[in-house]
Amino acid sequence: MTTVLAINGPNLNHLGARDPALYGDKTLDEINGMVAARAEALGLAPVFFQSNSEGALVDFIQSHPEAAGIVINPGALTHYGYSLREALADAALPTIEVHLSHIHAREEWRRVSVIAPVCRAQIGGVGWRGYLYALEALAEMLKEQGR
Ligand code: DQA
Repeated sequence: MTTVLAINGPNLNHLGARDPALYGDKTLDEINGMVAARAEALGLAPVFFQSNSEGALVDFIQSHPEAAGIVINPGALTHYGYSLREALADAALPTIEVHLSHIHAREEWRRVSVIAPVCRAQIGGVGWRGYLYALEALAEMLKEQGR
């Protein structure tokens, strides 16, 4: 099985309760359950991780050299998380950045992602579905790589 990392950053542990008009009413556990089901159908083995700390996210990425790809919603670290960006760059894996909300249609400060330049793609504005679309795109990319 091909391992992929399914990572969520700060405050995403509060999904469901956190501004549902922007982020939807599903909890992270519910979303991860759908990601697990879709991953199985795609022949991928996801390893899930959420943290409110940038260093813990960096440690997690560094401790999974077996991974073939990454789906990540970096939360607010999207906009200033340079050590997370460098961990992703060092991992050198196909990575898809996901946002539940459409960050380019929100406040000015959210429109910049310091993570996007080290990702293959960014998906946002489609709520929880974005994680599934990201997984599907990643599966295709990995197939193309012969993994
Ligand atoms: C988010 C967008 C970020 O700007 C915000 O800080 C989040 C969630 C999203 O999924 O839409 O925590 O990444």
